[in-house]
Amino acid sequence: MLDKTYILAIESSCDDTSASVICNEQILSNIVANQEVHSKYGGVVPELASRAHQQNILPVVETALKQANITKEQLNAIAFTQGPGLMGSLLVGTSFAKSLALALEIPLIGVNHMQAHILAHFIDDASEQKPTFPFLCLTISGGHTQIVKISNYFSMEILGETIDDAVGEAYDKTAKILGLPYPGGPLIDKYAKTGKAVYTFSKPKVKEHHFSFSGLKTAILYFIQKEVKENPNFIEENLENICASVQNTIAEILMDKIKKAVKETGIKQVAIAGGVSANSEIRKRLTDAQKHFGWKSYIPKFEYTTDNAAMIAVTAYQKYRLGLFDDQSITANPRLKVNS
Ligand code: KG4
Ligand code: ZN
Repeated sequence: MLDKTYILAIESSCDDTSASVICNEQILSNIVANQEVHSKYGGVVPELASRAHQQNILPVVETALKQANITKEQLNAIAFTQGPGLMGSLLVGTSFAKSLALALEIPLIGVNHMQAHILAHFIDDASEQKPTFPFLCLTISGGHTQIVKISNYFSMEILGETIDDAVGEAYDKTAKILGLPYPGGPLIDKYAKTGKAVYTFSKPKVKEHHFSFSGLKTAILYFIQKEVKENPNFIEENLENICASVQNTIAEILMDKIKKAVKETGIKQVAIAGGVSANSEIRKRLTDAQKHFGWKSYIPKFEYTTDNAAMIAVTAYQKYRLGLFDDQSITANPRLKVNS
């Protein structure tokens, strides 16, 4: 094992093109190019996403190397997101990484995006302390809502997941109903801060550790339609309170489920990961849980919550240590599971 292992990682699973250089567990650069092109469509348009990745990937990789002050020849491995994600988007990063590893004659490492969201907690500056095994992780993003038990770096078990929409989708679809652009999560979070949770939405009754968010979206839609019929300015006049009410309901659903998982497993170390873990209310409730329930909570730095290549890089570093390399036959897998 080398004293210092330099890995270049590429993330292109959805609508952000990102590249990062890591030295062991220390991030030297983490460049993210967001794709503005989707905002007016209320969601990611796959064709536009892959085209934007093709345009962004070279400058993003070059900037990441430059900022890390590293040349391609100093790299020890190339990592990329193998899945899950959008096929066209994944293909851009996969083929770029494969060609680069081939040209430089260095190892290639395919990374599972869902494992990477969780393992982002092992980046040196992710939080004050790193989790120890086993711990639970509430992974909440635009495509996933899961409670995962992590027994070791690559030993993960899904205890529960959504049976329909992901929590990020609930945020984005609510934003669309309210006339806000995509991605809606950060905006709802912003307006919720100055509002009061005066409206109530019924919470779904889903068995065990599973989740459901499509009913909530429909309840919000019917509520807004009814109110707007009576007052066409209802949304503008009550935006903050609507957002606070939605945010409060979502936070309650998530906390109820994670509390149940802690009780049943006896594991009191709880992490959050994924784009929605940037949410202020969810972060606050998880921080408070340390005091109220004696948990140890792990809340990642903002830059490691939404899609980024730093999380791919730190996961690749663990794979490098274990000698888990891939060859040129590896292909993108849009349906990769966290436990595969
Ligand atoms: O992990 P991510 O960047 O991409 C996926 O792998 O899906 O997550 C994106 C999701 C979007 O649905 C976005 O609205 C949501 O994360 N999000 C938030 C916040 N920041 C991003 N949701 C709620 N509150 C936020 N502050
Ligand atoms: Zn993600």
